[in-house]
Amino acid sequence: SHRVLTGITTTGTPHLGNYAGAIRPAIQASRQPGVESFFFLADYHALIKCDDPARIERSRLEIAATWLAAGLDTSRVVFYRQSDIPEIPELNWLLTCVTSKGLMNRAHAYKASTDANEAAGEEQDAGVTMGLYCYPILMAADILMFKAHKVPVGRDQIQHIEMARDVAQRFNHLFGAGKELFILPEAAVEEGVATLPGLDGRKMSKSYDNTIPLFEGGAKALKSAVARIVTDSRAPGEAKDPDSSHLVTLFDAFAQPAEREQFRTDLRAGLAWGEAKQRFLEVLERDLAPMRARYDELIAKPDAIEEILQEGAKKARATAAPLLAELREAIGLRRFR
Ligand code: TYM
Repeated sequence: SHRVLTGITTTGTPHLGNYAGAIRPAIQASRQPGVESFFFLADYHALIKCDDPARIERSRLEIAATWLAAGLDTSRVVFYRQSDIPEIPELNWLLTCVTSKGLMNRAHAYKASTDANEAAGEEQDAGVTMGLYCYPILMAADILMFKAHKVPVGRDQIQHIEMARDVAQRFNHLFGAGKELFILPEAAVEEGVATLPGLDGRKMSKSYDNTIPLFEGGAKALKSAVARIVTDSRAPGEAKDPDSSHLVTLFDAFAQPAEREQFRTDLRAGLAWGEAKQRFLEVLERDLAPMRARYDELIAKPDAIEEILQEGAKKARATAAPLLAELREAIGLRRFR
């Protein structure tokens, strides 16, 4: 069998980028025969970026309801909250001890902070916590704990998965005694949606405040977000260049191949941006409307979601605990005998 694993950080409401880049491909993969899947809410990761407990709790509920509304089948997928698995922070420490500081110096998330500090004339590490600095190690623990082969993610996570491979290799080399204690994971990135653009054309991201939320605010909020997608100033009737418009990239992520062709042809022939956005909204709603109905039901039943997550945590720990026991043995932490 073959294992697929992915997680989402619980700091905001899920957006189209999370859905197209991670949730949709992960659920598709989970339906293939012979696949075992582990999908989780990365709430330890949330603590790195967010110190608002209410927001983390709300985000966790929204992300959980989104996975379930999107069709996650809990009889096939182990679905859990990271912080319910104490084996993960334990593994995090074991991995921390074999990870070189130099590797973490190169991590994008940390480098982005230090670069910004430098540009602003501040001290290099101003505002950088050890959580942010070591973030890729915790992510490696998430992945290696469950011996995942494939990790469906957007492009922004590829570096982290490569780092998880490096850490796994080092650990295997040091302690495996010829055996593979960890599987080397691979990123599974979908072309076309690897970096879904946001309203302004940059990567859709909570930190750029340019997201289109999946369900928050309902159909009305979706419509008003789509209206705010930035387009060039060509007038109705004027020919548009489909290749230079991020509205087209967004459309492609939700449309059938024939619809994509037609959209391009019509834009070149002068389709107005307003009408183009209306068409995008239609393909979006075709996918999202049925999910939104399920989402609204689920979000009103946090207790039922909690029960699902507790079931998932039990299954996840049943997989994690034996591996951790094997690792403790391998590194010299076993009991006297
Ligand atoms: P996070 O919460 O930032 O994003 C969750 C998933 O959504 C993808 N994504 C996108 N894909 C395409 N276009 C976009 N604009 C876009 N924005 C976000 C992300 O690539 C990601 O797949 N560190 C991770 C969470 C995590 C994790 C893990 C993932 C923790 N442990 C282990 C995989 C395996 C994160 O912050 O993703």
